[in-house]
Amino acid sequence: MNHEGIETRVGWLIAFTLLAVSIGGMVELLPMVFNANSTKAIATLKPYTAIELEGRDIYIREGCHVCHTQMVRTLRSDVARYGHYSVAGEDVYERPFLWGSKRTGPDLARVGGRYSDDWHRAHLLDPRSVVPVSNMPAYPWLFENTLSGDDITRKMEVLQTLGVPYSDEDIASAAPQVAGKTESFALIRYLQSLGLDMKNYQPGEAL
Ligand code: HEC
Repeated sequence: MNHEGIETRVGWLIAFTLLAVSIGGMVELLPMVFNANSTKAIATLKPYTAIELEGRDIYIREGCHVCHTQMVRTLRSDVARYGHYSVAGEDVYERPFLWGSKRTGPDLARVGGRYSDDWHRAHLLDPRSVVPVSNMPAYPWLFENTLSGDDITRKMEVLQTLGVPYSDEDIASAAPQVAGKTESFALIRYLQSLGLDMKNYQPGEAL
């Protein structure tokens, strides 16, 4: 059958189009799935502690990721401002990942250790108290709500099933670690952990 024969018969056209698109899709996707660089954790990567994990869920619940990306691009300006560009191996335990493509506020992928805990507390309570021109909302309720610790065991078990290397002791000791802590405490622990795994890497160094 020649080219015109395929183009003028709708059934064949659909079948060959699907075939071409599937081959194209596989050529793009399969190397990513099996390429160790994109699926292997960087040597220093540590899973979130129980309290950091709770903080991450609060971060998602409050929509922080709507204004903040967690992906340092390879652009020179990004690297100069935030540090080493993001690599896939940092994010293998991220479910879901929080990369994003729109920044209303700065990227937070490397914010861990940049400010003191006191600064974060003041900033979350009233952003204008530390950055007068800020248009970030205030989050006063995070200082009143406390964590029950009820679902942390289940959350960590699910992540363990998905390949995050939590030990059974990590999971067993999680609930007492988080119960009674304020949401702001958990969120700040999470923020202070961001990017630490990559702190000492130089661009170009083997990951
Ligand atoms: C409406 C958009 C918006 C939302 C939602 C938002 N932020 Fe921000 N954020 C900003 C802007 C703008 C700045 C820059 C001004 C400032 O520092 O307050 C900022 C700054 C920050 C900084 C300082 C970053 C740096 O490198 O100086 C942190 C940390 C931060 N936000 C955390 C959070 C957290 C945690 C949440 C969710 C509880 C959140 N933000 C929600 C807009 C937002």
